[in-house]
Amino acid sequence: MNKAFWKNKKVLITGNTGFKGSWLSRILLNACADVYGYALPNECQKSIFNAIDLEKEVKCCYGDICDEEKLGNFIAECKPDVVFHLAAQPIVRLSYEIPVETYKTNVLGTAVLLNSLRKSQSVKAIVNVTTDKVYENNDKNSFFSERDRLGGYDPYSNSKACSELVTSSFVSSFFNPEEYGKTHSTAIATARAGNVIGGGDFAPDRLVPDLIRAYEKGEAVVLRNPNSVRPWQNVLEPLSLYIELAQRLYEKGTQYNGAYNIGPRKEDCLSVIEVIKKFSSYIPLKFEISSNAVKAPHEAKLLTLNSQKAYDMLGFKDKWDIDSNIEYTALWYKKQIENENMKQVTDDIISTYFG
Ligand SMILES: NC(=O)c1ccc[n+]([C@@H]2O[C@H](COP(=O)([O-])OP(=O)(O)OC[C@H]3O[C@@H](n4cnc5c(N)ncnc54)[C@H](O)[C@@H]3O)[C@@H](O)[C@H]2O)c1
Repeated sequence: MNKAFWKNKKVLITGNTGFKGSWLSRILLNACADVYGYALPNECQKSIFNAIDLEKEVKCCYGDICDEEKLGNFIAECKPDVVFHLAAQPIVRLSYEIPVETYKTNVLGTAVLLNSLRKSQSVKAIVNVTTDKVYENNDKNSFFSERDRLGGYDPYSNSKACSELVTSSFVSSFFNPEEYGKTHSTAIATARAGNVIGGGDFAPDRLVPDLIRAYEKGEAVVLRNPNSVRPWQNVLEPLSLYIELAQRLYEKGTQYNGAYNIGPRKEDCLSVIEVIKKFSSYIPLKFEISSNAVKAPHEAKLLTLNSQKAYDMLGFKDKWDIDSNIEYTALWYKKQIENENMKQVTDDIISTYFG
């Protein structure tokens, strides 16, 4: 990470109160960027945002991403150089319960944001964070590259594919590369990362937060699919890609426009049970394997991404293997349970990763 580049840059992060947004805010604050955040207020006390006291250092505006007036006024006030768009309803299962709300936030929200940025004219680089689930997935263990067809089975995945389409339309219509340097000076990319783990995630219906919640209550987690293999990547890996991508867009312009996959290496795909066993060497987790098949909503099976474009164009390389990933994730939760200074713990993990 080029800290000199980020010093004093005005950076707007939407979804800054969430798991990824909080880590991203902390990394950029450590690089002396001027960080602004736009998100919904944090409803639960337990969050990395609260644990590392980000409200003191990020200039926050609380509002709905679809609130054009509030978001527009905030953008006019902060005049960002760079925008990372992370605000979303990101939970697959919840998207089955609140599909319309999910589409509203994830699709209309992207349009409202890009339209507000179009009016502001200060921004030079925008990274829209989507997901590996944007692809049309036939559950045959595909290995997706950026040129594969978009789709998405459930409302979350599909809404993120729509967010990609909205971005593509705004690029063609308002931030066209042919007009770069004439009518606008904005370069835009999307980044499609897989599921990540890392300290400070307290979202419902994700394995590591579920395990930690159960551990704190002294309960066992019931595993329905212990042998299902999933990719495990540390949250810092895609965040480092978003940061590098934003810098390239800012400095080199629209030649870096487009979509970028960012997934873990094949060797970092492990079964749930293997991950829990590794985790248990740091935090003694209890789990039970359910013998009853429970009818759950459809979720895409193993998704793997071809990240060659990110390797070639951005020089991206995963830094942590699965063991380091689990070690630093477990360390964060362990220290939090022990009431340590979480800002310090988080900063130590960031400096270990970025060097
Ligand atoms: N965590 C993962 O494994 C993962 C994987 C791939 C992609 N992503 C993407 O990364 C982004 C961040 O995910 P996360 O895990 O940090 O999620 P999170 O739930 O922890 O955070 C979501 C953030 O979005 C904000 N938000 C939600 N609805 C909003 C609305 N209507 N208006 C304004 N703000 C709103 C929340 O306040 C919060 O700050 C999302 O776009 C998600 O789709 C996450």
